[in-house]
Amino acid sequence: MSPVVGLWGVEKVFGSGVRALAPVDLEIQPGEFISLIGPSGCGKSTLLKVIASIHPPTAGLVRWWGRDFTHVGSEGHRMAFVFQDPTLMPWARVEDNVRLPLDLERVPVSTAAPQVRAALEQVGLGHVLRHYPAQLSGGMKMRTSIARALVTRPDLLLMDEPFGALDEFTRDRLDGEMARLCYENGLTTVFVTHSLYEAVFLSSRVIVMAANPGRIFGEYHIDPAIRRDDAFRLSDGFAHMCRDLSQMLTEATHATFAGAEGVNP
Ligand SMILES: Nc1ncnc2c1ncn2[C@@H]1O[C@H](COP(=O)(O)OP(=O)(O)OP(=O)(O)O)[C@@H](O)[C@H]1O
Ligand SMILES: [Mg+2]
Repeated sequence: MSPVVGLWGVEKVFGSGVRALAPVDLEIQPGEFISLIGPSGCGKSTLLKVIASIHPPTAGLVRWWGRDFTHVGSEGHRMAFVFQDPTLMPWARVEDNVRLPLDLERVPVSTAAPQVRAALEQVGLGHVLRHYPAQLSGGMKMRTSIARALVTRPDLLLMDEPFGALDEFTRDRLDGEMARLCYENGLTTVFVTHSLYEAVFLSSRVIVMAANPGRIFGEYHIDPAIRRDDAFRLSDGFAHMCRDLSQMLTEATHATFAGAEGVNP
């Protein structure tokens, strides 16, 4: 079976000459929850944008469900992208913000309405449909943004530090909701984060990246069957995994291209 997205020998050199991605090989399998973690500037956002086909790679091959990008959408596969900033339209109610991707597809409002309600209920916001963004807390705005991504029922969800601007308590709560949503629905997810605790809590596979040039340094697997709840967060196993990952991250931070070990394992 083809991976959801496969990248083989993918490089990205920007016009400025920055080698944001040295050759990267990555196969994303259905149902995986992958986190990308690594020092600032190591190419996490660039890699996510190559996966989203926002950035074309300079070299290498990318395939979505075994085909080129022109087939995404037309063959029933969908991707959704959640940015760090919730980017809601301030003049539109929550339900209208969430309906936007369906409006763009010219789905009639009467068909879209139950889908919008279901997406908002999935993120625990069924009660604020008629609110405006200014009436929401930071966490609620982010959940609205996630509902807007879920409303198209994506097969692949891409998120770039969605909870980076939130306080730790809200982030932990949203991580719990995110994990439930993704694992219960078997949703394939790629999630960029700076937090190794968040990466361990959420992921079935953590990809550790190194910088200059950006590349995959190593990866860390976590049993997808583990229930992502408070008991997991407080367990010895969780602490152990965080220590392991912290060590790999320290090595990645110190690595240079010439001296790095474990490049693209
Ligand atoms: N549009 C662009 N044009 C030119 N250079 C870019 C562009 N986007 C990113 N870069 C450069 O590519 C490198 C990787 O950037 P990227 O944003 O992918 O890193 P990141 O790992 O997401 O960093 P952070 O953790 O700070 O968000 C950096 O050196 C950055 O300056
Ligand atoms: Mg980034």
